[in-house]
Amino acid sequence: MFTRSAAFYDAVYAWKDYAEESAAVDRLIQERRPGARTLLDVACGTGGHLRHLCKHYESEGLDADPEMLALGAANCPEVPLHEGDLTGFELDRRFDAVTCLFSSIGYARTPERLESAAAAMARHLEPGGVLLVEPWLSPDEWKVGKPHLLVVDEPELKIARANTSGRDGRVSVVEFHYVVATPEGVEHFTELHELGLFTHEEYTAAFERAGLRIEHDPDGLMGRGLYVCMS
Ligand SMILES: C[S@@+](CC[C@H](N)C(=O)[O-])C[C@H]1O[C@@H](n2cnc3c(N)ncnc32)[C@H](O)[C@@H]1O
Repeated sequence: MFTRSAAFYDAVYAWKDYAEESAAVDRLIQERRPGARTLLDVACGTGGHLRHLCKHYESEGLDADPEMLALGAANCPEVPLHEGDLTGFELDRRFDAVTCLFSSIGYARTPERLESAAAAMARHLEPGGVLLVEPWLSPDEWKVGKPHLLVVDEPELKIARANTSGRDGRVSVVEFHYVVATPEGVEHFTELHELGLFTHEEYTAAFERAGLRIEHDPDGLMGRGLYVCMS
């Protein structure tokens, strides 16, 4: 989870074009459900997509991390946000569209919990509603032992985030090492992320068991693919 790094999340992912991705999400939804007007973003984080989608949809968000939700509330003050687990949540309402983007589905970790997540998201769709899920990498795509470095170089914020990709069975293991320099000083911390490596077959089985019809776009919003499911 991003508990230690939440305050730096928007700076770390400043390279991501949330506006363009949200425009693509809007197009995909409207093509399949013309006039769709309600949307739930599951694992919404700091609201990178919601801040754009809320201009077109009566939107709500859900995330498990209170720190991320607090930042999301600051970024999207008009949007109701809920604390909850993507593998089992109940908001007592349905939406024309449900999204789960930037590979957040990987946090389900196991195929069983992937099925629970698909079922929970499907339960929140109106009949004929659209679910968009951007998957995490498959077991074949994940390469162990690859070093990564991300740098933020703003005038008052310097971050180096380094990790080497690891694996524990069917779970990708990423221990981020952060060095963060601000006017207040320099801090160093680590943060562990574990995301399930699911196959295409496991994703499609989970969505089918949830009663959804599936289209798969192998490119998607940022090259990781996209499942477009209809209730
Ligand atoms: C990579 S971030 C994506 C956030 C946002 N969708 C975006 O595109 O910037 C993954 C998000 O999943 C959330 N998350 C992790 N495990 C979760 C769970 N079990 N249930 C709900 N949210 C979870 C994290 O708190 C984090 O906000």
